[in-house]
Amino acid sequence: MGAFDHHSAGFAAGWRDQYRDIRATFPVMRVDEHGGFVLLTRYDDIRHVLLAPKDFASGRDLALDGLPGTVTGGVTVPANPFRMGMMEMDAPESARLRKILLPWFSARAVELNAAYLHDLVTWCLDQVIESGRCDVVNDLANPLPALATLDLMGLPLQNWQRYARILHGAVYRERGSARELAWLQDDLRAIVTERRLFPPAVATPVDALLAAEADGAPLPAELVVELVYMLLSGGIDTSTALIAHGLRYLSAHPEVASELRAHPDLVPGAVQEMLRFFSPGTGIARTAVRETTLGEVAISAGERIFMGVGAANTDPAAFGDPDTLDIHRGEAHRHLAFGAGVHRCLGSFLAPRQMAILLTEVLTRMPDLRVDEAGVRAYETIPLVGGFRAMPATFTPGPRSGLFPAGGLPPARGERDRLRAAQEAASQPAAAGPPSPPGT
Ligand code: HEM
Repeated sequence: MGAFDHHSAGFAAGWRDQYRDIRATFPVMRVDEHGGFVLLTRYDDIRHVLLAPKDFASGRDLALDGLPGTVTGGVTVPANPFRMGMMEMDAPESARLRKILLPWFSARAVELNAAYLHDLVTWCLDQVIESGRCDVVNDLANPLPALATLDLMGLPLQNWQRYARILHGAVYRERGSARELAWLQDDLRAIVTERRLFPPAVATPVDALLAAEADGAPLPAELVVELVYMLLSGGIDTSTALIAHGLRYLSAHPEVASELRAHPDLVPGAVQEMLRFFSPGTGIARTAVRETTLGEVAISAGERIFMGVGAANTDPAAFGDPDTLDIHRGEAHRHLAFGAGVHRCLGSFLAPRQMAILLTEVLTRMPDLRVDEAGVRAYETIPLVGGFRAMPATFTPGPRSGLFPAGGLPPARGERDRLRAAQEAASQPAAAGPPSPPGT
């Protein structure tokens, strides 16, 4: 048994070194914390498990051949307080539910929605641009994914701060977060009930779930609430962490920021490399369905497996010079920050696109953004997501975009379409009038 605890402050402070040492000595290591699990740190082992869902289950209460009762599974170690939608189900249920949601998360769908992401980015920057100072976490990294996820689902934006705070607390496993989570779920329940009665003119993922049927009956309301919660919690804190890491890196590496500003076509690749290097999600768990071997180690049915995402992404067998962030790294997109296989992150097109739009806008509108390192507060522990509490920064003040009225929330999509069209029309050169009559 090795010593390892992804809930410890030591892990948060030194996961790169811990993974490097463990991979070099016991790449498949039994750990007895949190009920016992097998820790994987090699890219190939982790990819193998992710791509073998019949042998390594995601579901929570598993009845396994030859074992009495049920085994508590799920995708975290220890198990989440409640199931995380299809992320914690197995085929065929997980595949059926994923199919309902996929049309909203494909590369094409994300591209069609890019203008809406863009104007949310504009709104976030507008809130701070005139002041010359912001907190990267509280003013940019936190609001943007919360607003974007609520906006995509057509959920009211007025509660974004409370939603984001609660999901933040849940990810960080703060005390008292259970009561707040119960409030959030009640709120979602009320919204879902209302949406079933009054569907909007333009369907969203929530409406697709409400319209879907399983065995000839609508999905149970509780399942819809669970899936909406899954989308919120999957989309918000992970993206927040990625944005904060990325902006901090560019602040510390102005030469990379200059290169990206001069060559915006490099931004998407840089985002993939940031996903690899920072690996915002800490780990993914599975449960062995049957006896098997991983590396040289025999695994019993029912054993819990914890895959260190950061370990896979910094495995020198998969990525040369893995502890260097290189925006030109061709193979960066092979990272496992979004998992792989049948449960690969549903937001794997949305999150990078959102990040790329934000980076491009920050590089243009706040070109000299500098993080005040003395004020940076990272999470003390990172059981689920490696993010930050605070990251103050300064920059040369600039003008608002003029797209939105000052103050308040970003307008709903229809109103944003109208404001965008009005701004575009105003920026066009005045159309030539009819030719003057001869002789005038
Ligand atoms: C940087 C941002 C993100 C990271 C690092 C991330 C990471 C992950 C990972 C590692 C998984 C795989 C879990 C597993 O295999 O058990 C996953 C699944 C998932 N993610 Fe993300 N995620 C991000 C953003 C998003 C966004 C923006 C959304 C949606 C709005 C989202 C929704 C989901 C969902 C629904 C699943 C479950 C997919 C399934 O089980 O079929 N994620 N994510």
